[in-house]
Amino acid sequence: MRILFLGDVVGSSGCSKLVENLPIQKKQRKIDFVIVNGENAHESGVGLTQTICENFFSSGVDVITSGNHIWDQKEIMKYIENEKRLLRPKNFFEPSPGKGFGIFNVNDLRIGVLNLLGNVFMKKSNDVFEIANKFLNKFKLKKDFDFLVVDFHGEITSEKNAIGHYFDGKASLVVGTHTHIPTNDARILQNGTAYQTDAGMCGDYDSVIGMNKNNSLNRFMKKDKVSVKHFPAIGDSMLCGVIVECNLETGLASKVESYIFGDQLKNS
Ligand SMILES: [Fe+2]
Repeated sequence: MRILFLGDVVGSSGCSKLVENLPIQKKQRKIDFVIVNGENAHESGVGLTQTICENFFSSGVDVITSGNHIWDQKEIMKYIENEKRLLRPKNFFEPSPGKGFGIFNVNDLRIGVLNLLGNVFMKKSNDVFEIANKFLNKFKLKKDFDFLVVDFHGEITSEKNAIGHYFDGKASLVVGTHTHIPTNDARILQNGTAYQTDAGMCGDYDSVIGMNKNNSLNRFMKKDKVSVKHFPAIGDSMLCGVIVECNLETGLASKVESYIFGDQLKNS
């Protein structure tokens, strides 16, 4: 089983790069299942809509995960109630629309996808380790699903590292999202779980984490007295994430590699 996880899709450029390239990339890289974090996919850079989700699904995405910006386009609150392939963080305060976990079938194999939100420097939500603990008491790899992927949407590397170790041996892959910068630490942890601190974004890297760089600079330098509307960079995007190869018998990872499609991050 080869699973491709793609980091946060940002704005229209990120969306078109994904939709145009995913079908062929899936074939070329022999991918069986695709998960994408879509919470920044709207043209404004925050939230996503039904149309965006449908475009992703028809280009070969199997599950869309999200994070703190999931509700920024209000229509999604209704859509998520009836679309189980779209997830929001499981540790959101209840009641919240939608679900934070789902089990999806591929050729008789069951893939669990769990979406969690970090607690440090993020919008308030339930304690992520408590919710993870409850989850692991209820669900077991190979009993309830054949594979488990955890999208941990968080700001800081230490919390992501800790969650990786917490799920080690209990998930196929734990991958971080939200910072929009891919980390160079894809590896298999001691007990067999594949891990990367952040998947990076599917967006234009000639930017500040996907947003127009001049705008962001002005904001940091407090140059604009009148607040300028933030909007995504519109240059050509890259696709960034992780490919994990899973062992059918154990559900754990046999191989993991960073996935980077596009030229902007080439060091030349
Ligand atoms: Fe986020």
